[in-house]
Amino acid sequence: MPALLVRDLEQVVTPAGGPAPLRGRALGELAVVERGYVLCDGDRIARVGPMAELAAAHVPADAVELDGRGCSAVPGLVDCHTHACFAGDRVEEFALRAGGASYEELHASGGGILATVSATRAAGEDGLAHALERHRGWMLAHGTTTFEAKSGYGLDRETELAQLRAVAAAGGVPTWLGAHAVPPEFPDADAYLDEALGRVLPEAAKVAEAADVFLERGAFDAAQARRYLEACAAAGLALRLHADQFTEAGGIPLAVELGARSVDHLEATGPDGVRVLGASDVAAVLLPVAALTLGRPMPPARALVDAGAVVALATDFNPGSAFCESLPVVMSLACTQLGLSPAEALAACTVNAAHVLGRADRLGRLAPGYSADVVLLNVSDWRYLAYHLGGEHVAVVVKEGRVVWER
Ligand code: NIG
Ligand code: FE
Repeated sequence: MPALLVRDLEQVVTPAGGPAPLRGRALGELAVVERGYVLCDGDRIARVGPMAELAAAHVPADAVELDGRGCSAVPGLVDCHTHACFAGDRVEEFALRAGGASYEELHASGGGILATVSATRAAGEDGLAHALERHRGWMLAHGTTTFEAKSGYGLDRETELAQLRAVAAAGGVPTWLGAHAVPPEFPDADAYLDEALGRVLPEAAKVAEAADVFLERGAFDAAQARRYLEACAAAGLALRLHADQFTEAGGIPLAVELGARSVDHLEATGPDGVRVLGASDVAAVLLPVAALTLGRPMPPARALVDAGAVVALATDFNPGSAFCESLPVVMSLACTQLGLSPAEALAACTVNAAHVLGRADRLGRLAPGYSADVVLLNVSDWRYLAYHLGGEHVAVVVKEGRVVWER
């Protein structure tokens, strides 16, 4: 594969701030090269610098050149929390919620997540792969070069494993969300967990990198979450939790005790939870689109950053609570609703998101040795990515040294 030189960029922007994960003041530290270039050698970045120093870069004679005039470059975005592997939609439910129905009531009456479970079970492995491919295209068009996606819409052995295989086949990072909801064929959560941990976990652990649980009233309680997570940790999976979305139900102390990678959502988290996370290594993954969609309070992002917590941002892309695959929209909300700066928002969905996926050594920065994942924006100030709510500034997406998407 020939080298790729992106030249004459107005700005080359990358999170700085020292080793990952970035906390506190370091989250907002950027390195910006004005009038710069990015040189990729194979699937890695070889050099980044000002055009004035390009002569010293020893660009191979057969390098492919991309014209960056008028553009800025940021690292490929990393979406560390999605439910992108689903079939069907919930547009009917959306209309009902617009008319006043509540998400939790719809869930309790067999709609919500369970409606997507029915559609996903019926889709078959090919149907699922097809749906995920479509969603993957949407994500790429918004600059996402790495995505995580959870199972949790199968809730039976066959479909959970089909979801995980589809995510891996699409190049995503698979998470086993075996404890998302209790499917209707089981009398209670404990009976379902007997099946999930006994018959699904041994196979899921061969494909997934992490396990996740929805710890919430109406889903799984803290004792059930503990049982699930301890079994998953014993099978070698990293641990993540959907916690404090509607109620504080003990997710943060459990995550800290078990050494989880992340707690995600946190719309209901109070000052004690903020303090605990600030003093821990568990990342807080904030999902402002879900809060916005469901009309919930926003998570305490500013307080978490100021307390020293590891903060990442993600879309939560799913057909119910967050039908939005755009990390630029998430960055906008981070700046207008969560009190983060554009620089903090960028670091939270690049380097810190890569940390949540265990890939901060190679993803999330434009620096030598990192994966050649680059997003070119058709604006000379990269902050338009957050400033222009719903703007379409992603012009070219490079993944592992190849152009994979162009506007
Ligand atoms: O993260 N909270 C639970 N799970 C997802 C929503 C899934 C759905 O509504 O289909 C979430 O918001
Ligand atoms: Fe989620």
